Amino acid sequence: MAYNLLKGKKGIIFGALNEQSIAWKVAQRAVQEGAEIVLSNAPIALRMGELNKLAEECNAPVIGADVTSNDDINNLFTKTKEHFGGGVDFILHSIGMSINVRKNIPYYENNYDFTHKGFDISALSLHRILQAAMKHDAINDWGSVVALSYIAGQRYFPGYNDMADNKAMLESIARNFGYEYGVSKKVRVNTISQSPTRTTAGSGVKGFDGFIEFAEKMSPLGNADANQCADYCITLFSDLTKMVTMQNLFHDGGFSFTGVTQAVIDQMAK
Ligand SMILES: NC(=O)c1ccc[n+]([C@@H]2O[C@H](COP(=O)([O-])OP(=O)(O)OC[C@H]3O[C@@H](n4cnc5c(N)ncnc54)[C@H](O)[C@@H]3O)[C@@H](O)[C@H]2O)c1
Repeated sequence: MAYNLLKGKKGIIFGALNEQSIAWKVAQRAVQEGAEIVLSNAPIALRMGELNKLAEECNAPVIGADVTSNDDINNLFTKTKEHFGGGVDFILHSIGMSINVRKNIPYYENNYDFTHKGFDISALSLHRILQAAMKHDAINDWGSVVALSYIAGQRYFPGYNDMADNKAMLESIARNFGYEYGVSKKVRVNTISQSPTRTTAGSGVKGFDGFIEFAEKMSPLGNADANQCADYCITLFSDLTKMVTMQNLFHDGGFSFTGVTQAVIDQMAK
């Protein structure tokens, strides 16, 4: 069901890798809601080729950018402004990667080269994107920026490793840049803290199946899936949420505010 919530709006979607990606679903929903989009991902992800399918479906150009590179991001904004003949109204940051997680290195033995790389990609990239956007004046007045986070930014979760630190920093950058961009251009910046979701990044977390099952049992509404996350992103890009900024918004079926559920108690009593 489409409501034309993004009619006439233009946006950039970072991070669609394959059909499981949350960004993939957001791209599809944004176009259904009347938006025009540009798709971006790291050069290595573009070489995998899957993004071309989405680009065709969404009638969207693909502009590669490694988000750790200022040159790539500047190039992306220059080309996007040329393409649209002006700025954008929304940006989705759906980017995350930790080599420590990927290589199963315990938190207390983290390799700091890997930590730096993961931090650069997963958290600092939001700052880099917003700083470049400001320089290029690439986001229109009352624009909306959303980055995806996870509750491990506030609480301990086994296996989430240094991504927990990255998420805490990501949320902090959204808050601080939200202030700056709000004052200068009425641009709002928020993070959505999403339920565990079966995607390439999600499945990299050790013991993910148990993790997702536990979250399902601990949430009165169950886990939110990628399509539901896309719906929520659309509301934040729309004009219906113009006064929401600097927030970390939980989209997790109630998980974040549940102490324990009957389902978990029953399981423990077995
Ligand atoms: N899957 C989950 O359980 C879950 C839960 C909460 C939040 N999130 C967050 O959602 C976001 C999207 O992840 P996803 O689960 O859809 O997985 P995904 O693997 O589909 O997306 C991660 C994306 O990051 C991109 N990326 C990695 N390095 C990059 C770089 N240097 N430059 C540009 N892009 C780069 C990848 O190419 C990929 O498209 C991430 O921030 C993730 O932490 C995921």
